[in-house]
Amino acid sequence: MLSLTFVLLAALATASNAALTRRVVCPDGHTVSNEACCALFPVLEDLQTTVFDSGCGDAAHAALRVSFHDAIGFSKSQPSLGTGADGSILIFAETELSYDANLGIADAFNVEVPFIMKHNISVADLYDLQHVYVFPTYIYPSIQFSAAVSLTHCPGVVRPTFMFGRVDAKSPAPDGTVPEPFQSVQQILARMADAGFTPAEVVALLASHSIAGADDVDPTMEGVPFDSTPSVFDTQFFVETQLRGTLFPGTGGNQGEVESAIAGELRLQSDSNFARDSATACLWQENVNNQAHMASSFQLAFAKMQVLGQDTSKMVDCSEVIPIPPPLSAGAAQAFFPPGLSIHDVEQACANKPFPNLPTAPGSPITVANIPQDPATDGACQDNGQDCTIQ
Ligand code: HEM
Repeated sequence: MLSLTFVLLAALATASNAALTRRVVCPDGHTVSNEACCALFPVLEDLQTTVFDSGCGDAAHAALRVSFHDAIGFSKSQPSLGTGADGSILIFAETELSYDANLGIADAFNVEVPFIMKHNISVADLYDLQHVYVFPTYIYPSIQFSAAVSLTHCPGVVRPTFMFGRVDAKSPAPDGTVPEPFQSVQQILARMADAGFTPAEVVALLASHSIAGADDVDPTMEGVPFDSTPSVFDTQFFVETQLRGTLFPGTGGNQGEVESAIAGELRLQSDSNFARDSATACLWQENVNNQAHMASSFQLAFAKMQVLGQDTSKMVDCSEVIPIPPPLSAGAAQAFFPPGLSIHDVEQACANKPFPNLPTAPGSPITVANIPQDPATDGACQDNGQDCTIQ
């Protein structure tokens, strides 16, 4: 009797596993484990060809930044500070884009809003498509989905995961949830802890600055990169922020900026402090020439960020829709000191472990080129959030 019960239970378990793993064929021929994910393929295809057609460049960087600024409007201690990755930054653009920390976010919306309107998928359309799951609007996939897809253009990224089915923001996040580059490490860590992140996760997330630059920190320059390889997700950002600062790429004296070590490169005061503060210096250094650590810790922290404030038990795992990013080319994972610089230029801050001694790239000192600006980022959406709405 006991063995019959066991056989029956085993058969049931097998049947339910089969039910869990049964694949669904989407109308366009893709197969997925949950039919809700089918809705993302046409969006993905369009994003790839019309939004991120220039690879890991300006539009991709902008999409990544906006995903953080939306998600971080969340607080464990004060729910009134926002509901996280809920699209509030776009739904309430006229409010949230008026905050100083969101200067420049309009660039991303100039790319994304026409895209959302072009697809013209309404609340009802999505509901009909997915039968069971209610995906209230198209906005949330566009912000967090775009960011996940943008990352897949950057060699060195570990394939991001993607949960689908975010719930609408009912109100804007208030001012003050997005960290600013002139804030202290302690202030930033406290804000991020309130959103649920450990110091290690904050450093992991800051790997995003490996594929980033500034348009508004120095008002005289646009697309000023944070490292010498802004279209590759490599560890150079962690190397170069640890080097003694000697110059500004443009005018000096801008709030939130300190001297960098390489001409044409901009160093945020916060990144500089993270590299040197005793609370974070060893976490920072851990990334140097350690591509696997940087990429995997970023993937995990980014996955957490993308669902802040959302009930993941009501969401669908559509990670399989996200393409596999290209690997770093041979040799590109090897970190280096930029030409003319060496271990003697490192401002060692981690007390437990010496900074890795890296090879110096050959040649004379370089000037890092600006990140070419995508013309699509100049549109109707204004810096203060006016004309950013979806009609
Ligand atoms: C936690 C502290 C952080 C601070 C203080 C900070 C600050 C900044 C600042 C001042 C800029 C330049 C904006 C401009 O002038 O155009 C910037 C750019 C950027 N940030 Fe951060 N950031 C932080 C964290 C993050 C995180 C967690 C992410 C993503 C997960 C992120 C992604 C980016 C990207 C991709 C850009 C480049 C945007 C572009 O080129 O259009 N940042 N950040």
